[in-house]
Amino acid sequence: MTKILLIGNGAREHAIAEAIIRSGRNPRLYSFMKTNNPGIASLSEKTCIGRYDEPEAVVAFARDTRTEFAIVGPEDPLSHGVVDALKAAGIPAVGPPRALASLETSKSFTRNLLEKYRIPGNPRFRNFPSLTGIEAFFDELDGVVLKPDGLTGGKGVLVQGDHFQTREEALAHCRDILKTHPSVTVEEKLEGEEFSLQCLCDGRTVVATPPVQDHKRRFVDDRGPNTGGMGSYSCADHLLPFMDAAAAAEGLEITRKVAAAILRETGVPYKGVMYGGFMITRSGVKLIEYNARFGDPEAMNILPLLRTDFVDVCRAIIDGSLDRLDIVFEKKATVCKYVVPRGYGLPQSRPDAASASSRIEIGDVQGARLYYSSIDQRPDGLYMTSSRAIGVVGIADDLDEAERVAEGAVSAIRGPVDHRPDIGTGRLIRKRIDHMRKLVGERV
Ligand code: AMP
Ligand code: GLY
Repeated sequence: MTKILLIGNGAREHAIAEAIIRSGRNPRLYSFMKTNNPGIASLSEKTCIGRYDEPEAVVAFARDTRTEFAIVGPEDPLSHGVVDALKAAGIPAVGPPRALASLETSKSFTRNLLEKYRIPGNPRFRNFPSLTGIEAFFDELDGVVLKPDGLTGGKGVLVQGDHFQTREEALAHCRDILKTHPSVTVEEKLEGEEFSLQCLCDGRTVVATPPVQDHKRRFVDDRGPNTGGMGSYSCADHLLPFMDAAAAAEGLEITRKVAAAILRETGVPYKGVMYGGFMITRSGVKLIEYNARFGDPEAMNILPLLRTDFVDVCRAIIDGSLDRLDIVFEKKATVCKYVVPRGYGLPQSRPDAASASSRIEIGDVQGARLYYSSIDQRPDGLYMTSSRAIGVVGIADDLDEAERVAEGAVSAIRGPVDHRPDIGTGRLIRKRIDHMRKLVGERV
């Protein structure tokens, strides 16, 4: 019997839990969650509700349950040193220690690492601990992106043209950021199509999983505010419609070099997921950011396709033997659509922003997979809380069919909910291809 501790409470972790339970290694799942996720709880022997910033509570639960190893879903516990605490207690983990999670938590750590080790993929950038020199750098760039240094949940990034227009506004934002963060990274605004490449890493070997495209904007046609992600898709050929094998290989090569650089820089092997957010631009594949974990929703696209035993994958990450494991993903297309409360992502001042805490009913979702996120199980049924509620995943031979399966399942969920009907549709895919063609010509 293999006792595994999962830390996290979102739909990503529900997908991880399912991958663990599917294992043929006789796993027993124990879950440490910030709030109860009924989907994860239903797959677990035992759960513990606690805080991610209290590593000692995680260690106590791991000891109590005699965990063989842990897997950490979200960035929060990583940034609070949960993996360090587990390691000190002799419990290995899939997930980096706090210092290596800087790959996600510190934009400047990652940009500087690429620069120092001459790894391609950086846009032009500079890190500023004060306003000195910032305006001169603005002069050198056509458009700028401002990133607070520190963990901001992906929501602190400010893009010129989206979040602000003028140089004065940019300066005012930098001033604000520096009040609450040690520094601000100013970088060149890139144009292109984004893809997520979630790579498994044992410290030396890096293995890519199929690339996925996420949709951060709240509304149809990529309008409205950025969210945690409204849905995502992946293709049966393990590429994306606007992306060739060379671009995927570039993303993997950058990640391999980053893993090697981390080992040289810190002497510590990175064991976990290195999820690169990349952009294909006119001048090749550029790195937007790294995350030290699986993506949410992107984990829901790839984990259901994994044919290799997930417990074997975790063990190989921990003991450094990924090079000896054949990691296989089914050649299927996936479309994930997040069902959210209607008010999700709207300013609290809007009258329709308060549709959280409403009851939902789930009808016949046919062949789709459902992964619970912010869902509360009460005696009289399932309730949404304020955030993304359920990740609905369609899996099929092609994208059109996967989209139909997901859409059919979404329409079986009743309540004051919303989703993005355009994710995975031919119309939106065509828009992505046209965008890429405009940038790079007929290469796509
Ligand atoms: P991040 O939190 O770094 O993922 O940034 C959030 C979003 O901002 C990304 O998904 C991109 O759409 C956008 N973004 C970040 N950096 C850049 C950049 N250098 N150029 C253009 N867009 C960017
Ligand atoms: N899909 C965005 C994220 O996981 O950060």
